[in-house]
Amino acid sequence: SLKGVDLRAEIDRLRKERNAVILAHYYQAPEIQDLADFVGDSLDLSRKAAETDADVIAFCGVRFMAEVAKILSPEKIVVLPDLDAGCSLEDSCPPEQFAAFRAAHPDHIALTYINCSAAVKAHSDIIVTSSSAEKILSQLPMDQKIIFAPDKNLGGYFNRKTGRDMLLWPGACIVHEAFSETELLKLKALHPEAPVAAHPECPAYILDHADQVGSTRAILDFALASPAETIIVATEPHIIHQMEKAAPHKRFIGAPGADGNCNCNMCPYMALNTMEKLYIALRDLAPQIEVDEPTRVKAKTALDRMLAMAS
Ligand code: 13P
Ligand code: SF4
Repeated sequence: SLKGVDLRAEIDRLRKERNAVILAHYYQAPEIQDLADFVGDSLDLSRKAAETDADVIAFCGVRFMAEVAKILSPEKIVVLPDLDAGCSLEDSCPPEQFAAFRAAHPDHIALTYINCSAAVKAHSDIIVTSSSAEKILSQLPMDQKIIFAPDKNLGGYFNRKTGRDMLLWPGACIVHEAFSETELLKLKALHPEAPVAAHPECPAYILDHADQVGSTRAILDFALASPAETIIVATEPHIIHQMEKAAPHKRFIGAPGADGNCNCNMCPYMALNTMEKLYIALRDLAPQIEVDEPTRVKAKTALDRMLAMAS
């Protein structure tokens, strides 16, 4: 039993002993964000994973993110506190079906959102994150035919923003699809001065009401730079932890779901990682992320293109 174990102190001791780096996404529990060596959006976390000289990467995020770390740094041990930490976008895009979709459109390149399995990345030409997609699209000719998977909301947003007509895979994130337009409008009526910052995984009927659309880090930057005293945040609400730490005098309100609060917008996959499981992962160096070599090499080509085009 872990009763009586000082988890913070033990995680700290093990991190040094193992020469481990703890990387965390903004959707993780506050106590995990607070002890991480680095907290970021998916692009920043990928860059950190590619650059680190640690022997072990303890990835506090979802499985596809830890897989990216392993793909970019195969000589390192990558542990994920809970291997069941998946992603509804990854689930919406099975590799065989994606391969068939590609094969049906041989004149298109496959631009793929990082929220997918290593196998889908291996079938892709270029990976993008929400923070890098626009810059990468600007480097592709306008007449380039593109299939975009798996997030139809994010793909639709970039289609509208860049005037393209990418063919969209019909996937979506259960968390960002849970926001309610009616409840958001009610909240805006209560706080008419509050700008809305939204993640592009939100459906268009939410993005239409947003003053700022961007990745988790872009939302955080906007919230901190905004002169407004109250800001409405339409993404997973754990990111509000960083906002409250950096700007305790401001008020950050999570955009509501149909029940009128933001509790239904917590990512159930991210929530599987706990301090206890992080401690065990560092202690036992398990569970580890493995990617078979042929898949890894192909997926890395698509990820390397993203890192080069986004820099
Ligand atoms: P970011 O790249 O914005 O951190 O997005 C990750 C994610 O899973 C959003 O749901
Ligand atoms: Fe996946 Fe959505 Fe959770 Fe992000 S918030 S990890 S896209 S299920």
